[in-house]
Amino acid sequence: MSSEKPAVRLALLGCGTVGSEVVRLLHEQAADLTARIGAPLELVGIAVRRPGRQRGTIDPALFTTDALGLVKRDDVDVVIEVVGGIEPSRTWLTEALRAGKSVVTANKALLAEDGATLHDAAAEGGADLYYEAAVAGAIPLLRPLRESLHGDRVTRVTGIVNGTTNFILSSMDATGAGFGEALDEATELGYAEADPTADVEGFDAAAKAAILASLAFHTRVTAADVFREGMTGVTAADMASAKEMGCTIKLLCIAQRGPDSTGNESVSVRVHPAMIPRSHPLAGVGDAFNAVFVEAEAAGQLMFYGRGAGGTPTASAVLGDIVAAARNRISGTRAPSESSYAHLPIRPIGESVTRYHISLDVADRQGVLATVAGVFAKHEVSIATVRQSGREEDATLVIVTHGAPDANLAATVEDLRSLDIVRSIASVLRVEGGV
Ligand code: NDP
Ligand code: HSE
Repeated sequence: MSSEKPAVRLALLGCGTVGSEVVRLLHEQAADLTARIGAPLELVGIAVRRPGRQRGTIDPALFTTDALGLVKRDDVDVVIEVVGGIEPSRTWLTEALRAGKSVVTANKALLAEDGATLHDAAAEGGADLYYEAAVAGAIPLLRPLRESLHGDRVTRVTGIVNGTTNFILSSMDATGAGFGEALDEATELGYAEADPTADVEGFDAAAKAAILASLAFHTRVTAADVFREGMTGVTAADMASAKEMGCTIKLLCIAQRGPDSTGNESVSVRVHPAMIPRSHPLAGVGDAFNAVFVEAEAAGQLMFYGRGAGGTPTASAVLGDIVAAARNRISGTRAPSESSYAHLPIRPIGESVTRYHISLDVADRQGVLATVAGVFAKHEVSIATVRQSGREEDATLVIVTHGAPDANLAATVEDLRSLDIVRSIASVLRVEGGV
């Protein structure tokens, strides 16, 4: 298909899992993309670490190791960054944005650690900054938050935003396997990376939570503002206990706005494993899928679901951003700029109201239940349910609380640990949804 308009010229930084699929889709869909944009896209260079590596049918002349040189070229309109990490990506992207070049990035780590620098550079250069692929891969989620819901007031975002851990927890739920066994399966099937720390310890989900909270609440939120607890401590016994209660366990990211202890509007952002009832919309999200549940005052409840990772699904989101950035350049318009006017303070985890599921091994004798209940009462934590099962001289108590500030719940658990009658605290899990 011909076009009278000159080509929009692209520089690609990174040609790995995501980048190689971006190149493939740019090539395979060239005619449609040209028609949709009103001008052709032309890939003028690709920066990689190892330029001599065999990369299918991609023209070897396109490769360079000089990413900064590529970004600075006069014939580059749009810079696409799919390398990852903080530096040198931050330097490349600020350079591009300040020079007025549009940026499309999938780099959640950079956006969550120092998105402010990128947004400031975009404002300085009058440039577009798009990052749909940074959270939940293929799922169109950031654009709805950034544009469609801008007439509404988002109150809460609850999501499963890490595919690896969702695969592990879904497998533990389905088979009764322990964490280690399920992780091995995820590694064998290629879901978990060789070093799965960022996934299983919740760093990846925390970065995504920061990006979601920033967009939802018009406030700059960084990864350091997110309370994070990984899912390596979730045991087969926890999952069995959850099942008995009609629940499952998911690694959730939860971003919520609401009053703090002094009544001022604030934002709380946390990532941790949580028990949720099987009737909850997120409970049925299995395998390595992602899903995000958004609650807004006028729209009500919205659910976004799909593939949160993988080269091709992630490249779909990158391509969508490339089309948007290219169209803007042709029509002389801009992407919506950063909206951080609300400047809401971050509420500490201790003030977040949540519920706990606590499993205790206690001595089975008179007065034990009353003593345990007294500890909850002392910290103003109301007990919702208690289940007891006997084991010779000992008993297992499973206690689920009503909502209370996390600090009160944590203090309750600390006091329980110091009781003689408590042999051990087998597990402490947060509970979300109407259990
Ligand atoms: P890969 O590790 O597969 O690819 C990274 C690419 O960057 C490689 O091509 C590598 O070159 C290149 N690279 C690394 N360092 C440099 C450097 N100093 N200069 C030039 N090029 C460099 O990463 P992914 O494709 O998996 O991820 C890319 C980004 O997308 C990350 O930000 C990630 O968080 C994000 N993302 C990834 C998803 C996924 O499913 N993979 C999902 C959502 C987001 P070489 O090929 O020579 O090694
Ligand atoms: N490691 C991430 C996941 C990749 O498992 O979801 C997508 O960000």
